[in-house]
Amino acid sequence: PKPGGQPPRGLRYETVAPSSVDAVTVPRGYASDVVIRWGDPMFPDSPPFDFEAQTAAAQERQFGYNNDFCGILPIEGRGQRFIMFSNHEYTLEPLMFRGYDEENPTPEQVRIGIAAHGHGLVELVRERATGKLTADRNGTLNRRITGSTEFAVDGPAAGSPLLRTKADPTGTVVLGTLGNCAGGVTPWGTFLSGEENFNGYFASPAVTDPRLQRYGFEEGPSERRWETVDPRFDLAKEPNEANRFGYVVETDPLNPTARPVKHTALGRFKHEGATIRLTRDGRAVAYMGDDERFDYVYKFVSDKAMRRGQSRAAREHNATLLSSGTLYVATFTGDSPAAEIVGTGKLPADGKFDGAGKWTPLASGKRSFVPGMSAEEVYVFTRLAADKVGATKMDRPEDVEAHPRTGAVYIACTNNSDRGKAGAKAGPDEANPRKENKHGHVIELVEKGSDPAATTFGWSILLVCGDPKDPGTYFGGYDKSQVSPITSPDNLAFDEQGNMWIATDSGEALKINDGLYGVSLEGPTRGRTTLFASVPRGGECCGPIVRDDFVLISVQHPGDLDDASPEKPASTWPDGPGTQPRPSVVAIRRVGEGGRPGKIGA
Ligand code: FEO
Ligand code: CA
Ligand code: CA
Ligand code: CA
Repeated sequence: PKPGGQPPRGLRYETVAPSSVDAVTVPRGYASDVVIRWGDPMFPDSPPFDFEAQTAAAQERQFGYNNDFCGILPIEGRGQRFIMFSNHEYTLEPLMFRGYDEENPTPEQVRIGIAAHGHGLVELVRERATGKLTADRNGTLNRRITGSTEFAVDGPAAGSPLLRTKADPTGTVVLGTLGNCAGGVTPWGTFLSGEENFNGYFASPAVTDPRLQRYGFEEGPSERRWETVDPRFDLAKEPNEANRFGYVVETDPLNPTARPVKHTALGRFKHEGATIRLTRDGRAVAYMGDDERFDYVYKFVSDKAMRRGQSRAAREHNATLLSSGTLYVATFTGDSPAAEIVGTGKLPADGKFDGAGKWTPLASGKRSFVPGMSAEEVYVFTRLAADKVGATKMDRPEDVEAHPRTGAVYIACTNNSDRGKAGAKAGPDEANPRKENKHGHVIELVEKGSDPAATTFGWSILLVCGDPKDPGTYFGGYDKSQVSPITSPDNLAFDEQGNMWIATDSGEALKINDGLYGVSLEGPTRGRTTLFASVPRGGECCGPIVRDDFVLISVQHPGDLDDASPEKPASTWPDGPGTQPRPSVVAIRRVGEGGRPGKIGA
């Protein structure tokens, strides 16, 4: 490539052309394999997948639907063996069942839907000779967590009257996790996952309570009619059940019988995910986005410090890290005159969308910093607390993640087609500089003194996404003739070389399939963004893990295009002609001489 010479190590692959084919496309010299897909057996006793004869009992023993976040941890002492965590965000019944009647699903279809949500933990084995990854249904750590598995609630709002129901008068045990989107792997060896779009699971009478309105609850039956099988999904019968969803949940993979935990200390909103960076003295800082148009970026700073090692005492201590601390919300201030933020993505006169910012505390333990709200209310109705302190309304903040080496925090603002429209909550500002932002942007935030617990920061926009031919796009100042079109950045990851990777959700906005892009952050190639893999038709690319030896991506909702149905599938990936699309985890490896594994991007 032209200016800047060689791309950095890790990004030396042949750029993949934007695609619209029904396949996973990877650079020349690479191969992709499906590791596990919806319905695949996860235990020795799991029945094989049969699209035409699904049952809830089978689904509970099989990989769930619409895997989004993907995390892995090596299993100590087991060489090339890993435990993989996937979450199953939501179900698409019209693609899952023939002749699905949205208004009258059968009770068994409802139960299958509940069982297809949640988490899946499965052991992976990497074959040394080829680098190929396979899922092991005999793994002793394998586990399915569904929409009806017991979760413990902890933190300052656990047991609050706001969380008590008829079935759980203690307000501390919730059945299931719903709408899990992105997540994170903690330095103490657990998996985090964010409960995002939980409102649609609840039937509701007329919604007059502003606390319900702010979370998007609507009058009428729920999207999937689960209330017809389980009355807790009807707010008329169980008004507090909805307050028990919308948290960051933590799962300990080494303790497959323990209840996973919902952490109220990290607040309740449409959690995209949570990623951890440690302070110099070992406290855990969780960065989080609330993925809704005009919602906020948050962080949580733990009171306690992490203990090193995997002793039982250390694990028990670390399990309490996300239970007490301080919850903050971000305000971004621009340094250019408002008149220069014209809403087209054109840079202001100082050549940068940039400025300063602050983290405003909302609550810490039992103490609220928000006038008129108790700490419990702040934790359960966090959006209303953030509204009161005047935080900055962002363009759907999805992944928020610190660079493992530099500590700079990257925020994927996926898009916001409403910004600046008549009657919208906000017009363009320097941190969200485009009107009707169709393609999104990525912000780089640098904490004061590189301290993740700092209460002030500087920021600048790294990427203004879109077709590079569009003058309103910006790629860190890099030559736009050398970058790939990219829209709707959603999930972020970092490789072992320090590059950033972006998985996208909404390629449709540019009429291309979603994909995984490598982004250079340093030196003369900063902002260089190139497509590495592209996913099948109608699918979204999520959950990337990029290592020197392999890449894992989630292919979520393949075939989810208008009017698609089992009679008229928009995709037949991954099983081929005559089959139905199945969300899957895909591994990508480099094939070197004699089929031996090569280093990714080297
Ligand atoms: Fe589930 Fe925010 O994407
Ligand atoms: Ca500026
Ligand atoms: Ca997402
Ligand atoms: Ca998404």
